[in-house]
Amino acid sequence: MRGVILAGGHGKRLHPLTLVTNKHLLPVYKKPMIYYPIETLVKVGIKEILIVTSGEYLGHFFRLLQTGKEWGVKIHYAIQEGSDGTGAALLCAEEFVKDDDFVVILGDNIVSEDIKGFVDEFEEEKKQFKAKTLITKVEDPTKYGVVEFEDKRITRLVEKPKDAFSNYVNTGLWIFQPEVFSLFKQLKKSARGEYETTDVLNAYAEQGLLTYGMLTSKWTDAGSFEQLYQATVLMKELEEQEAAKGGSTI
Ligand code: DAU
Repeated sequence: MRGVILAGGHGKRLHPLTLVTNKHLLPVYKKPMIYYPIETLVKVGIKEILIVTSGEYLGHFFRLLQTGKEWGVKIHYAIQEGSDGTGAALLCAEEFVKDDDFVVILGDNIVSEDIKGFVDEFEEEKKQFKAKTLITKVEDPTKYGVVEFEDKRITRLVEKPKDAFSNYVNTGLWIFQPEVFSLFKQLKKSARGEYETTDVLNAYAEQGLLTYGMLTSKWTDAGSFEQLYQATVLMKELEEQEAAKGGSTI
C-alpha cells in the first residue's frame, strides 16, 4: 500500500496567506498543515509517500520535509503542471503507484482518527469493490461532495449541490486500486474547469463498485479561513484530551 498526498492548487480562498507560499505549508496549531496527512499515512504503516504539488513551491516542501527520515518513511515528490483539479494531480502519481493499491489524502484534510482499520478492511472489500471513500456527517454539506449510501455501497455523489439531499459528505480520503488510472485518463473537465476525482468515484458508484467507511471522530478540511481556524481548534482540543489521558498524538 502506497500513500499519495495532493498538495497543489492555488489556495485562492486563503489569499493573501497563499500569495507567498503553498496552502499546505500554513500553520495548523503547532505544525504545518502537511504534517497531519503525513502522520495519518504513517499511522497506517505506509512507508512510501508521494507529495504532488506545483513546481512553484516544491523547494519549500523539500526544505521542510526532506526525504521523510523524521517519520521513518520515504517521501517522493511529483510536480503537477497547472492546477486543473485533483483528477489531474492524481495522474501525476501513476508512475509512483505502479501495481500497488494506494491511499489518497487531500493535503488540506485533517482527521483526528486512526484510519488504519478502514485501510485494512479494504483488503477483504476489494473482492467486491474497486474503491473506498471515507465519509462523515457535517452540518453544512453544500461545501462538499454530498453522498448517499445503501448498505455497503455509495449510490450517489454530487459535488457541492445547492440543495443537499443528505448530511453525509465525501472527505478527501480515498483508497484505490492501480487500475483506476484508466478512468482518470478518460476524465473531461467539469463545469468549474477541473478534472474531478468525484467523477471517477461516481463512475464506480454507478456500477455499485464504490464502498465507504464512516469516520466517527472529527474531520475538517482547512481550505477556507473558517475551516483553517476550525482545524487549529480541533488539533488543540485533541492535544488537550490526549494530555489529560497522559499521552500525545500530535
Ligand atoms: O475536502 C473534502 C472535499 O474535497 C470533498 O468533499 C469534495 O468532494 C472534493 O472534490 C474536494 O473538494 P474541494 O473543492 O475542497 O477541493 P479543492 O479543489 O479545494 O482541492 C482539495 C485539495 O486538492 C487541496 O488540498 C489541494 C489539492 N489540489 C487541488 C487542485 C484544484 C491539487 O493538488 N491540485 C489541484 O489542481
